[in-house]
Amino acid sequence: LYSARSSSSPPPPSSSSSPSSPSSPAQVSPNTSLSSTNSLACQRIKKKKKKPSSQMDSNNTQSPVRILVTGGSGLLGKAIEHVVTKQGGARDGEEWIFLSSKDANLTDLAQTRAIFEKHRPTHVIHLAAKVGGLYLHMKENLQFWRDNIRINDNVLHTAHEMNINRVVSCLSSCIFPDKTTYPIDETMIHNGPPHESNYGYSYAKRMIDVQNRGYRSQYGRKYTAVIPTNVFGPYDNFNKENGHVLSALINKTHTAKVEGSPLQVWGSGKPLRQFIYSLDIARLIIWVLREYEEVSPIILSVGEDDEISIKEAVEKIAETLEFKGEIVYDTTKSDGQIKKTASNAKLRSLLPDFEFTPFPQALKETCDWFLNNYDIARR
Ligand SMILES: NC(=O)c1ccc[n+]([C@@H]2O[C@H](COP(=O)([O-])OP(=O)(O)OC[C@H]3O[C@@H](n4cnc5c(N)ncnc54)[C@H](OP(=O)(O)O)[C@@H]3O)[C@@H](O)[C@H]2O)c1
Repeated sequence: LYSARSSSSPPPPSSSSSPSSPSSPAQVSPNTSLSSTNSLACQRIKKKKKKPSSQMDSNNTQSPVRILVTGGSGLLGKAIEHVVTKQGGARDGEEWIFLSSKDANLTDLAQTRAIFEKHRPTHVIHLAAKVGGLYLHMKENLQFWRDNIRINDNVLHTAHEMNINRVVSCLSSCIFPDKTTYPIDETMIHNGPPHESNYGYSYAKRMIDVQNRGYRSQYGRKYTAVIPTNVFGPYDNFNKENGHVLSALINKTHTAKVEGSPLQVWGSGKPLRQFIYSLDIARLIIWVLREYEEVSPIILSVGEDDEISIKEAVEKIAETLEFKGEIVYDTTKSDGQIKKTASNAKLRSLLPDFEFTPFPQALKETCDWFLNNYDIARR
């Protein structure tokens, strides 16, 4: 369950931090399993120091290294925790702190400052966000805008006030312009309105990039952002209405199988998506934190050739969960953006040898996790 392939090379010494000589993402050991307990409060993970604490990158001279992960209890946060604790992703002397909303409501500035004061991080991976699937976005665009604008400003500005030089935040491929040419790349984020279904979330996310540029130009900070495509994996939100598409479909398929009913898929099944496994994203975000030098964001995605239709994903889920019933596509429901094909050329130029987990394997591990953790899964 949730085992990963070994990366071919061990983590490099921290001194080799240059985009032209990139290191491998976090080392991954085989046969590790993801804890089935859902963490509700802050997790602190300290890797014992064997030698004087190494620095995360050439520009940060603070010691010790304390990495605060906001949104540490979510899909991406749990995957990073897994890589750090189970797959050799942490370096000697590092302390990793994983926050959930129960530790601090980051829409509130006072709570944000208090949690930063408590942990005094030297680095931040900022994942916390109000997130959801297409239909929740369509219902609550205003709330997505307000919550995310506040969370992002509170986190980034508190990091700046505390003299933290390194923050990696998370954008999303669904924030790109609706009317665009394909493949989309990192230079195109602000080139036109996003799809109307999720404009609140998209504009709020785009402002992270604006803010990162501001901290760079006014204060020389190294705040950057990653742009994942559609992430899935253990600990995702499997809710049938509000979850991300793949996980919602896993849950729907399981229910249809148990009840012996047809599988109702919302939309035509035609939209195309680049699905990326949460464990792969986790390894890449850790690499970005350590090695990626630019302020401008980087797309973290499987290649354009790996884009699949929702229909293909549904068929793969049905095969994986051994669902043999009828599949019905409800075309009265919205399809959302028909495609948002993103280029991973920039990532590939820096990390040409990164191996993504094959989709069938990642899907199987996610389905297994869902079935084994049905009681605690968000659904
Ligand atoms: N999943 C994707 O396909 C995808 C794709 C592209 C980008 N991203 C981005 O990746 C990041 C992580 O997404 P995810 O999929 O891991 O989401 P997730 O599983 O829903 O997790 C969201 C995390 O944010 C925390 N959070 C939400 N509201 C908060 C608040 N007001 N104060 C403090 N913490 C709060 C949640 O804490 P609780 O657990 O306590 O609620 C949880 O830890 C987000 O920035 C998202 O925009 C995700």
